Amino acid sequence: MEIKNVSVIGAGTMGNGITHVFAQAGYLVTLIDVNPPQLEKALSTIAKNIDRQISKGIVTEDQKNTTINNISTSTIIAEGVKSADLVVEAATENINLKLDIFKQIDAAAPEACILATNTSSISITKIASVTKRPSAVIGMHFMNPVPVMKLVEIINGYSTSKEVSTAINALSIKLGKIPCTVNDYPGFIANRILMPMINEAIYSLFEGVAGVEEIDTVMKLGMAHPMGPLQLADFIGLDVCYSILKVLHEGFGNPKYAPCPLLLNMVTAGKLGAKTGEGFYVYTPGSKELVVSDSFKK
Ligand SMILES: NC(=O)c1ccc[n+]([C@@H]2O[C@H](COP(=O)([O-])OP(=O)(O)OC[C@H]3O[C@@H](n4cnc5c(N)ncnc54)[C@H](O)[C@@H]3O)[C@@H](O)[C@H]2O)c1
Repeated sequence: MEIKNVSVIGAGTMGNGITHVFAQAGYLVTLIDVNPPQLEKALSTIAKNIDRQISKGIVTEDQKNTTINNISTSTIIAEGVKSADLVVEAATENINLKLDIFKQIDAAAPEACILATNTSSISITKIASVTKRPSAVIGMHFMNPVPVMKLVEIINGYSTSKEVSTAINALSIKLGKIPCTVNDYPGFIANRILMPMINEAIYSLFEGVAGVEEIDTVMKLGMAHPMGPLQLADFIGLDVCYSILKVLHEGFGNPKYAPCPLLLNMVTAGKLGAKTGEGFYVYTPGSKELVVSDSFKK
């Protein structure tokens, strides 16, 4: 299973990072998005992130040029995947959208092509079921920011073959990452453990056990977490946290995963965290200071 040509679908937060690491490792990458300005934005983000790597002495100017030259773009899935040895789908987290995308990839990609998804929570087995090659469908869950974070959580669907799983493990190592293989149950491992912790932090705030800063400080200083669970929730996006908790709640049918009503209220109010400028904290462009939102000031 030689992999040279990689197609990445979705040029958002994750898609640009995934493209960056593959292109930097010498793979020829076609980045595909339905939204042309998103492709432009992704290319400029990749260039900026490589400049940061240059300033830290991680890569050279020559390597930057090679990386950029390894990337091409497309707005049409059928075109963009036709020579792919591997497709990594990183489009919006919506099950119907992903099922539709996988039908399109399956129809257009070469027979031997492996189909991976970067989904945070959607069943790999479900995605595989809409293709004619379920043994070649696998989860390749990169972490944000992709060029920095070492882990790739690899998720074997019910029908994923050993050969495909072995190939994706070896490939992750070639990208300079550390793969960890898990089975396909709701939330896999990363989010099955992380999201209940975040939800419990939100419940603690909701019930008045402690304030935003106190909750995050206890977890930072007491458990040596690099950031508190409420700040992390803001960083991930409160809408994303809510939808993953719903997948856990529905998938296991266990009330312990029910999203906190405060989380639902914040999502409904459009306070989604860093990306909208306000969640548990407020975010001012250019400032790194952590300021608690007025809604939670005592
Ligand atoms: N953001 C994170 O921290 C994070 C971490 C791990 C995994 N993930 C997963 O990665 C995936 C992408 O998340 P993101 O945060 O990058 O989302 P995002 O909203 O930043 O980007 C999604 C991109 O998909 C594109 N898109 C939508 N429909 C498309 C289609 N039919 N064809 C091609 N492109 C299409 C959009 O235009 C957008 O550019 C999701 O499955 C998410 O769960 C996200």
